[in-house]
Amino acid sequence: MTNRLENRFAAVTGAASGNGRAIAEKLLQEGAKVAAIDLNKDALDKVFGDHDDVLRIEANVTDEASLHDGFGIVKREFGRLDALVNNAGIVKFGTFENLSKDEWDQVFAVNSTGPFLVSREARELLNVDQGDHTRSIVNITSVEAHIVISSSGHPQIHYNASKGALLQLTRALAVEGAATGIRVNAVAPGYIETPFTAEALKDDSVKNWLLERTPLGRIGKPEDVANGVAFLSSEEASWITGTTLFIDGGWTVY
Ligand SMILES: NC(=O)c1ccc[n+]([C@@H]2O[C@H](COP(=O)([O-])OP(=O)(O)OC[C@H]3O[C@@H](n4cnc5c(N)ncnc54)[C@H](O)[C@@H]3O)[C@@H](O)[C@H]2O)c1
Repeated sequence: MTNRLENRFAAVTGAASGNGRAIAEKLLQEGAKVAAIDLNKDALDKVFGDHDDVLRIEANVTDEASLHDGFGIVKREFGRLDALVNNAGIVKFGTFENLSKDEWDQVFAVNSTGPFLVSREARELLNVDQGDHTRSIVNITSVEAHIVISSSGHPQIHYNASKGALLQLTRALAVEGAATGIRVNAVAPGYIETPFTAEALKDDSVKNWLLERTPLGRIGKPEDVANGVAFLSSEEASWITGTTLFIDGGWTVY
């Protein structure tokens, strides 16, 4: 499928790596111009430096001033947004007994508060009425917003809780946005091969356990996530809001 996002403007956070990079690349393939937002400007330059349809924006999703400056560039260059993807996220592992408040706050700041701050900053640009099409926000949650995989040997209650908060932010914003034609959905990936999971996947026992536990019998790719995001960001999904698309090879039904 191509050109579903012709003449559309999109913004993707955490676009320099993994899922975010694949999402930005897919939206470009579909014809959109993309604001690629990330903390890591060097990586953005390396990945998108040659691309005329990409605005490379260094911003921290936890920092209001940095987001205000970043979206100021989007406003000046694009004038509006049709699609926003809240993808930036971090993972930390640790047991409940040893979990510090600082680490809890850090995970919530990026995974839960970040999408709120970004969506609030992007609201004005998403609200430029296009008449003929809806606008879309997609939040990248996780299967871990719904189930707890601590049996993998990676206890991460703060990650679980932060993604649960993002799930409910998605549903609340879907209700808020509906009146002005802004749809808000979540994509919940299972285990995807990205730098985020590279360390865990080096361990064959973890990899084999994941493969045995996944009905479709393979680890996910960032492109699997990107394909779902492109659909939800397009007019093919014009009557879909407040829902979650699981992209997990069947993990959550097993
Ligand atoms: N990889 C998986 O298996 C998996 C599974 C479920 C959900 N997810 C979610 O997918 C999203 C992306 O994960 P990934 O695997 O591609 O990770 P990744 O580490 O490869 O990429 C994350 C990107 O986000 C950027 N980033 C981090 N903090 C930021 C901040 N404060 N402001 C701006 N940018 C920031 C990083 O610089 C990096 O480029 C995350 O929300 C993650 O929770 C990943």
